[in-house]
Amino acid sequence: MIPAALLAALPISLLMPIAAHAQGAGIFKDADLTLGEKLIAQSKCVECHTRKVGGDGSAIYRPAGRINTAGALRGMVEQCNTELNLQFFPEEVSAIAAVLNRDHYKFKP
Ligand code: HEC
Repeated sequence: MIPAALLAALPISLLMPIAAHAQGAGIFKDADLTLGEKLIAQSKCVECHTRKVGGDGSAIYRPAGRINTAGALRGMVEQCNTELNLQFFPEEVSAIAAVLNRDHYKFKP
């Protein structure tokens, strides 16, 4: 007889790896990079970052800083989305984060 508690725990342990994958860099797997590039150009991201750090603005992106995973990068873009009231859809946030990852952060997929 298998204890009921063990049976109840089984589905969760089976789903865990899938959930962990969704949180990782796999989140950029289906990202539309062309869309991300377009949105970054339209949203004046670079203009504002350049005002802050000079140069081409890319110094604002610090891969060795507090953002150190793909999930954290996407979260930061989501936070900008909310704070700046850019009204991106979730797939647009992912697309932007994917472009930043490809060009600047290079977190492992
Ligand atoms: C109104 C000005 C402004 C605009 C517009 C803006 N940002 Fe930023 N962004 C900032 C500032 C200021 C920081 C630095 C915040 C800090 O270091 O605490 C920052 C930081 C970031 C970071 C974190 C960098 C790091 O590694 O710590 C990301 C990612 C980012 N911005 C993405 C974007 C994207 C994508 C857009 C456009 C959709 C955008 N930002 C638009 C001002 C702006």
